Formats: sequence, structure tokens, C-alpha cells
Amino acid sequence: ERKQIVDNFGRPHTYLRISLTDRCNLRCFYCMPEDGIQLMDKPSIMTLEEIISLATSFRDLGVDTIRLTGGEPLVRKNFGYLVEELSKLGVTLKITTNGIVLDKYLDLFQKIGLKKINFSLDTLDKARSIFITKRDFYDRIMVNLEKALEMGMHIKLNIVLIKGVNDAEINDFIALTKHKNLVVKFIEFMPFKGNEWDWSKGVSKQEILDTVEKKFGEIEVLENPKHSTSTNFKVAGHTGSFAIVSTITNPFCSECNRIRVTADGKMKNCLFANSETDLLGPMRAGEELSPIILNAIKSKKHSRDGMDVKMDAEHYEQNRSMISIGG
Ligand code: GTP
Ligand code: 5AD
Ligand code: SF4
Repeated sequence: ERKQIVDNFGRPHTYLRISLTDRCNLRCFYCMPEDGIQLMDKPSIMTLEEIISLATSFRDLGVDTIRLTGGEPLVRKNFGYLVEELSKLGVTLKITTNGIVLDKYLDLFQKIGLKKINFSLDTLDKARSIFITKRDFYDRIMVNLEKALEMGMHIKLNIVLIKGVNDAEINDFIALTKHKNLVVKFIEFMPFKGNEWDWSKGVSKQEILDTVEKKFGEIEVLENPKHSTSTNFKVAGHTGSFAIVSTITNPFCSECNRIRVTADGKMKNCLFANSETDLLGPMRAGEELSPIILNAIKSKKHSRDGMDVKMDAEHYEQNRSMISIGG
């Protein structure tokens, strides 16, 4: 019988998110702390060969989906080589990117069959983009988004909603779905080390739905694929759809199938897990990873790493910053 990564709640973990780097060409305030982070030094980061070997170990334990994250995954040196090698593992590959250098890789993605691209795009307004990201790449990002759509890539836009910053754009994003075949995914603002989270800055799932309904009328509820982190909707008659990731007001942990590995080779059982299991050290020492992984998953908590009722600053300030987790 094939081994599977099952936790104490009977949840099989088939979806791995690998962070390729903690570097990024943007500085979004909700992700990167104001004072920056202590960047990982090169020897502590997994090499490309180590990432491939690690991904293979997880694949052999039943992982069938791998999402590449960052920082910004496309700034990792020799990314093209890595993704081509990973595509030989026979898993579904996906990526989450800010899109700045995506044009360099679209042909390769098409060739290897990587179609699912989640695009971090918090605003459709250039000045606001510069405010949020502290960089001026808006035009390039929008050109690359169009290119990816024209190639038939399956695009989801990730929008972290913050009150007074981009919450007035909810219906502009919905309007995009009228003729474009994409998913706009609104995300409740989540707390990580140093991002000055305060739920009064967040926008809830219910507020989003009310805002959309007021302008567009009836909202169709779409079926949620099992293990989905979002609930999915559509405005009647629109080509595309929208989704909401409601980690704060409606957590969806009971079907969780996700594991994370950071760029420095630490396994995280949960986005909010403070304790981590080192996989890189043992891998470098020639140890077999599967028993370590199977053991580590046993300490997974049921929901939000134990923050079942509310987000607790004493807890999440011990976590990493989002930029070094990868979402
Ligand atoms: P799909 O594979 O398309 O379902 O993508 P995704 O939404 O899971 O991944 P993406 O990288 O686009 O992340 C979008 C948002 O969902 C980010 O804010 C992530 O932090 C959040 N997210 C992703 N996975 C999880 C998870 O397991 N738990 C929670 N609470 N949030 C998650
Ligand atoms: N809260 C919610 N989502 C976040 N992301 C980054 N930081 C946060 C946060 N504090 C999202 C970005 C990115 C995805 C991987 O994580 O939208 O696309
Ligand atoms: Fe899974 Fe943790 Fe996300 Fe809940 S918060 S869905 S347990 S990763």
C-alpha cells in the first residue's frame, strides 16, 4: 500500500507549496515588514537539486499538486531549469507570482503544461500600485497579465483587501470578470510577523458579498472543489468568476490538505505554524525524508495552528513574515 501523509485528524496531505526564495522585486506592506527581513544566506537555501529531490520525496508520499511560491518565485536563479525538471514528476504544477518577469517564462510554461498562474494584483490603479508595492512595475505587470490570458493560461488574481487602500475597487475587479475568463480572488488580510495586522483594516467575506450584490445584483454560488481555500461565486452572465479566501471570518481548515516548505528547507504544517521541521539538514546528511515528514505531520493542529477562535498576536508574531513563507 502506498504511503500517504495523513495527520491525526485523518486529513491526507496531497498539496505542497514550495517557497523558492525569500527575495522579491516588490515591497507590498502587508507581506514585507517595514524594516525588511533578515534575508536567508545562500548556504541555508535549498539548491535546485535539493528542491527537486525534496519534491520527489513528497511526490512519492502521495503529493499530486505542487505550487511554487516565494518571495517572488520567478526571481530565483535558473528558475527555468527548475520548473522544467519539476514538470517531469507527474504532479500538477502551479505558481503564484507578481507577474513582473512572467513574459520570460510563458512559452516554457506552455511547453511543460503549467497553466495555473495566480497573479498577485491588488489594484487596477497605477498610483495605488506604486503605493502598495513601493515599486513602479504596474505597466509591465498589466502587459504580462494580458499576454498570459491571451495564451489561455488559467489565471486567478489575488487581491488582499485593506480598508482605505483598495476596498473601493472590489466592483472594478468584478467588472473585469464580465468579459475576461479569469477568477478574481479576494483575500481577507491575515496576520504575520511584523505586518501590523489589525482586523479593523480587513474586509470580511460578508462585506465583499454585500458590496458586489449591491452593484451587480444576484450572485450565483458555485461549487467548491474539495480542499478549496476559497468559496466561489459568479455574477450572472459574466464570463469569469470570483472567489473569497476567508481565513479570518470563515476558516476552512477541516479539509486542509496543504503542507509548506520554506526556501531554507523547513516544513510547515500550517500557514500559521510556528514550529517547523528541518528537512534540509537531514537531506544533506543523507537521511531518508519520508519518516521525518510522516512524523512531522502528526503534530499538525486542527485549525490555524491552534488559533481556533481568534488570531492571537503572541502566536502570530512568532511566525515568519509572509514574504518568507510564500502564502
Ligand atoms: P489554489 O491552488 O488555486 O487554490 O490557490 P491558493 O489560493 O491556495 O494559493 P495562492 O498562492 O494564490 O494564495 C492565495 C491566498 O490564499 C493567500 O493569501 C494564501 O496565503 C492563502 N492560502 C493559501 N493556502 C492556504 C491555506 O492552506 N490556509 C490559509 N488559511 N490560507 C491559504
Ligand atoms: N494576508 C493575506 N494574504 C496575503 N498575501 C500576502 N500577504 C498576505 C496577508 N498578510 C497573499 C498575496 C499573494 C499570496 C501568496 O499571499 O496575495 O498573492
Ligand atoms: Fe490548513 Fe492552517 Fe490554512 Fe487552516 S490555516 S487551511 S490548517 S494551512
